[in-house]
Amino acid sequence: MRTPEVPDRKVLVLGGSGFIGRHVVAALQAVGCPVVIGSRHPQRRRRQLPAGGAEYREIRFEHLLDAGSWRSVLDDCDIVINCVGILRERGRETYQRVHHLAPAALAAACAARGLRLIHVSALGLEAPVRSGFLRSKRDGEAALRASGADWCIVRPSLLDGEGGYGARWIRRVARWPIHVLPQDAHGRIAVLDVRDLGEAIARLALAPARGGDAREFDLGGLHARTLGEHLAAMRGLHAGAPARQLAIPTLLARLASHICDLLHVTPFSYGHWELLQYDNCPRRNRLPELLGRAPREVGVVAPALQPVAGVLRPTS
Ligand SMILES: NC(=O)c1ccc[n+]([C@@H]2O[C@H](COP(=O)([O-])OP(=O)(O)OC[C@H]3O[C@@H](n4cnc5c(N)ncnc54)[C@H](OP(=O)(O)O)[C@@H]3O)[C@@H](O)[C@H]2O)c1
Repeated sequence: MRTPEVPDRKVLVLGGSGFIGRHVVAALQAVGCPVVIGSRHPQRRRRQLPAGGAEYREIRFEHLLDAGSWRSVLDDCDIVINCVGILRERGRETYQRVHHLAPAALAAACAARGLRLIHVSALGLEAPVRSGFLRSKRDGEAALRASGADWCIVRPSLLDGEGGYGARWIRRVARWPIHVLPQDAHGRIAVLDVRDLGEAIARLALAPARGGDAREFDLGGLHARTLGEHLAAMRGLHAGAPARQLAIPTLLARLASHICDLLHVTPFSYGHWELLQYDNCPRRNRLPELLGRAPREVGVVAPALQPVAGVLRPTS
């Protein structure tokens, strides 16, 4: 994909203070694009993240469940990028409202106003999953496809980078001398660098409109690894000796995921336990196509690791 022209279009980044959203905002600002950040806490976020002078707008998905309620929110914006997601439900912030009903209403509002909508989803939703977290994301994607809007869906694999909740945990656990893993965590992931994702989403948002299945983007990094292999690759950045791996039985791992959900602790959830059992690598990795270059390396490279199909190697 060509580098986009410097745009005069204003982009609303929903969840622009989050892990993915912050990198999308930075990439848009790097090409001179005016940005509005949607947040539940605009004042607090403005203090924490001045974000290059971006405007903040109060937006709460749980209250925006029909197209009409999005009207004033979308005022003066030309492109919308939805990076909102919740790991756990809290009060009115349910998976259905945040991942399905609000994005469905947003897509209808974008269709009515002729606005481009980029929606960040996740890989692995076609597996026979049971968690409400994953099913709501699947429903959100279906609503977008049916909306008639100028939509694109972006499905990244697991992300690494500074400041993400899950990424911080994985970096920390990688340093431990023992890695405790669910016995059935056989699924492979293609971890990518969040800076690459931010750049790819910004380019996609500013590129000409697309049709058909060219609007769905599975994105991953250079290597397909199990979670155990990813932890080993991250550990290799800091420690000489490999960690010992301790596999815990399936039932215990599942129980632990429910307890984490109940207590709202750690990024390990029932949905993630389900995802670990299936491959979560892009079938066709479109990250190099969006970036116009190879993705960044994540962790150290072990020679035996399988590269992700179709991915260019870095030149240096
Ligand atoms: N991180 C990964 O490895 C990864 C991989 C694949 C897919 N994803 C998906 O990508 C999405 C974003 O992930 P992330 O890691 O960037 O998450 P994150 O850091 O938690 O950011 C999500 C943002 O959503 C906003 N938000 C939450 N609830 C909201 C609500 N009710 N109304 C409006 N805004 C709300 C929050 O902004 P305020 O607090 O400012 O309101 C928050 O900063 C999620 O759907 C996630 O499942 C993530």
